Amino acid sequence: MAKFIHRGNKKKKQVQKMFDDISSSYNFLNRFLSFGIDKYWRKKFLKNLPLKNDSYVLDVATGTGDIGFEIKKRYSCQIIGLDYSSKMLDIAIQKAKKSNIKNFTFIQGDAEALPFDDNTFDIITISYGFRNLGNFENALNEFYRVLKPNGTLGILEFSQSKSKIFSFMFNLYFNYILPFLGKLISGSNAYQYLPESVTKFATRDELINLMKNSKFINCSMEDITFGVTSIFIGKKNIE
Ligand SMILES: C[S@@+](CC[C@H](N)C(=O)[O-])C[C@H]1O[C@@H](n2cnc3c(N)ncnc32)[C@H](O)[C@@H]1O
Repeated sequence: MAKFIHRGNKKKKQVQKMFDDISSSYNFLNRFLSFGIDKYWRKKFLKNLPLKNDSYVLDVATGTGDIGFEIKKRYSCQIIGLDYSSKMLDIAIQKAKKSNIKNFTFIQGDAEALPFDDNTFDIITISYGFRNLGNFENALNEFYRVLKPNGTLGILEFSQSKSKIFSFMFNLYFNYILPFLGKLISGSNAYQYLPESVTKFATRDELINLMKNSKFINCSMEDITFGVTSIFIGKKNIE
């Protein structure tokens, strides 16, 4: 039986509190519990996007800003990082100040009701945030609305591995060891929510269909690391 809420407005509040609670240990736990591979996943994700120095980028569910900071290593583009959890954003703001990062600004807000005009951004990224949203359709419709014509949406998200041998070992770690260590270090049950949220998440085909239903075109999917993580790309039509 599910221990957590996996759809709707109550999920949003549950997720917001969870990330507020773990904000101070989030970065450390990401590196530690993923053995640093999350950095490789983010880099690989960004290689799939048509980033340029003059791109206007929205990083939805930016958290502590890791995707934006990775983009900033190579491009001088303007980035807005939006997140529902103000405490995650506080960490992102501290990191930006410490590294003297320019043109990366942060806004507290909901992915399902974006505070931007239609046709604003060249690229929208959302990494390990999509699964956490209350209503996937609302968010995808918002992403489509605020993207410029020919703009690109990139989603990086956990998937269920299709490799039987790998998924047996990975699931042992992901379902038992990771929640135990996560709770021990952060004091939160967010790391129990993590594996449960992956099993309750849309399948690869379902997510591609949701993107198409929200009018995205040229939708594609690529699995990385035995399909533990997947990259989804979609384009807004040239109107
Ligand atoms: C696992 S973290 C990912 C953070 C970052 N993108 C990364 O790759 O490390 C998920 C983030 O999604 C945010 N989030 C969840 N629901 C949201 C919503 N409806 N609108 C905006 N952000 C949301 C959470 O607050 C959290 O910071």
